[in-house]
Amino acid sequence: MPKTLLELRKFVIPEIIIGVDARLLIGRYISHFNAKKPMIVTDKALQNFEWFRDTIDLIRPHVKKLFFFDDITPNPKDHEAMRGADLFLSLSCDLIIAIGGGSAIDCAKCISIVASNGGNILDYEGVDEVRMPGPPLIGIPTTAGSSADVSQFAIIKDSAAHIKRAIISKKVVPDLALIDPIPLMSMDRYLTACTAMDALTHAIEAYVSSTHSALTDVHALESIRLINQVIEKSVMPQRSIETMYELMLGSLQAGLAFSNASLGAVHAMSHSMGGLLDLPHGECNSILLEHIIRINFETVPDRYRDIARQLGLSVDNVSDTLLLEMIINRIVSMRKNLTIPAHIKVENLKESTVAYLVENALNDPCMVTNPRILTKEEVRIIYGRVLQT
Ligand SMILES: [Fe+2]
Repeated sequence: MPKTLLELRKFVIPEIIIGVDARLLIGRYISHFNAKKPMIVTDKALQNFEWFRDTIDLIRPHVKKLFFFDDITPNPKDHEAMRGADLFLSLSCDLIIAIGGGSAIDCAKCISIVASNGGNILDYEGVDEVRMPGPPLIGIPTTAGSSADVSQFAIIKDSAAHIKRAIISKKVVPDLALIDPIPLMSMDRYLTACTAMDALTHAIEAYVSSTHSALTDVHALESIRLINQVIEKSVMPQRSIETMYELMLGSLQAGLAFSNASLGAVHAMSHSMGGLLDLPHGECNSILLEHIIRINFETVPDRYRDIARQLGLSVDNVSDTLLLEMIINRIVSMRKNLTIPAHIKVENLKESTVAYLVENALNDPCMVTNPRILTKEEVRIIYGRVLQT
């Protein structure tokens, strides 16, 4: 019997509505959840946008009281989630609505975990450590990248150790994702670029993950095709709603894939770098991606050939050596077209700092599903290539 028939795979997703103005269905869903005191977990920067105010105006008639929690920084910290959970409980809230990018939605997930399980958020690091489901959670993503609105992942920074901790559990999958391209129209261009590269990385890492399956493959490949077609258009001044919809759909499909197939070395190394040096997640991934493709390629060349086809490359009858160079060229040209640099500058980078980054990357749960096991030395060399003093 083929090995794939003996490997059990699960596939978990929330209820999803995607399309222009999907966010405006929020009032109807508050009634479905019979919620009276929702907490909105969001970014301060979003609250002046018209689309944000429209959304909030549709919530007010359905509730007795509305609370806002926006004390969140990029790469959200454990103490921010703990403060949010304290507030949620002390105000007797009954629903969480996360409106934002990955930071706001991840923080909302962590608030929900602590609100029903107690303890410290860091107690739940790892796979399937969350026992009780949280209060109902609705995600309205405002970037096309993290897919936190559909995923089983919540990433939170351990502020004492300066490490990003991954909480992976079906208990953190939101109940509903309202996925609307309208907020993307007002998104900063560089944030658009970095978050879109994050989504592409999700799809590529899910496709070559050691726990990929037929159900995740189909979403990963379609995501790569969609993102490849629109990623450069999405940062143009004249970007259209059609372009941003395609990018959002690509990001969603990447989310469905990686949430169920997990990720790989790009994310493991990016979590480690982003946690210690407080760097933007999408930027770290964009810079690491070409290096990890190069080191992983030999282990699963046929899967990279499938990826290349989705990137629009003519790779029939092309040698593996040429195939790898064609993929790298496309990824590098994409990164350059999006004005994302090849390196990250770190002042006074010490050897001990790199050693700490290596150790944390090797311990990250995403490293487990990378198609090949990376050695300490390999990880150190890649950090040496991407970090500049
Ligand atoms: Fe990511």
